[in-house]
Amino acid sequence: MTALSVEQISCHYGGLKALDSVSFSVAEGARHVILGPNGAGKTTLFDVITGEKSPSSGRIMLFGRDVTGLRSDRRAWLGLARTFQITNLFWDLTVEENVLLACLAQEQSRRVFYRPAGSFPDLVAKTRSLLEEFGLGKLAKVKVRSTSYGEQRQLEIVIALATQARLILLDEPTAGLSGEATKLVTRLTGNLPATITVLLVEHDLDVAFQVSQTATVLHQGKLIAHGPIEEVRANPTVRQIYLGRR
Ligand SMILES: Nc1ncnc2c1ncn2[C@@H]1O[C@H](COP(=O)(O)OP(=O)(O)O)[C@@H](O)[C@H]1O
Ligand SMILES: [Mg+2]
Repeated sequence: MTALSVEQISCHYGGLKALDSVSFSVAEGARHVILGPNGAGKTTLFDVITGEKSPSSGRIMLFGRDVTGLRSDRRAWLGLARTFQITNLFWDLTVEENVLLACLAQEQSRRVFYRPAGSFPDLVAKTRSLLEEFGLGKLAKVKVRSTSYGEQRQLEIVIALATQARLILLDEPTAGLSGEATKLVTRLTGNLPATITVLLVEHDLDVAFQVSQTATVLHQGKLIAHGPIEEVRANPTVRQIYLGRR
């Protein structure tokens, strides 16, 4: 199944064309990276996929469903999660409480549409096991305020999982992290369940190549390469435009 189809998406900021008829698709379960120099349109593409920005033309399909006209909260119900939400973490609550709240919010927003409410003890148990599984068990009772930036990025990913995301968008998950924290986040991303599709923007090419099997390269709003990461890496235009600049 196709998790995401981006179909001839164009997007403007006033007179500036940030995306120019971009089309590609990502298979369910893929680990896919969006590459491109600064200003290429990567963040704009994420904004269009999540519904935070409307495209000037084109279509976004999520799991076979046209979501172009859907608000971002509707897209979240379809299983789309974007982790740029460090600023949305509750600093004075513990790590465990943050995950629990995300689970509760999810239960309540879905309840109306899909199923009866889960019981609270179920959610507590689910929270604990997620934290253990993803290496945050020791921090369960620690306030988010007292955790490191790297741990907060891990927590975002756990929250995306807790809310049963099927497609996770990570915009530069290792930006600003130390080498050690980068390794942790890389491992965590690599260890996400195979049923989850991961789309990431990454400037650290080593991280990109470790985590992803496929890639799309944008340059000045245009798609210039798409395919298996080894092919993309060897593409002469990509080397010239992107890799050559490092
Ligand atoms: N809010 C905005 N208003 C005006 N121009 C913007 C805005 N956001 C991005 N841009 C422009 O759109 C282009 C693509 O930006 P962006 O999507 O942030 O690129 P990337 O994430 O690849 O660095 C750039 O030329 C940028 O200056
Ligand atoms: Mg960006």
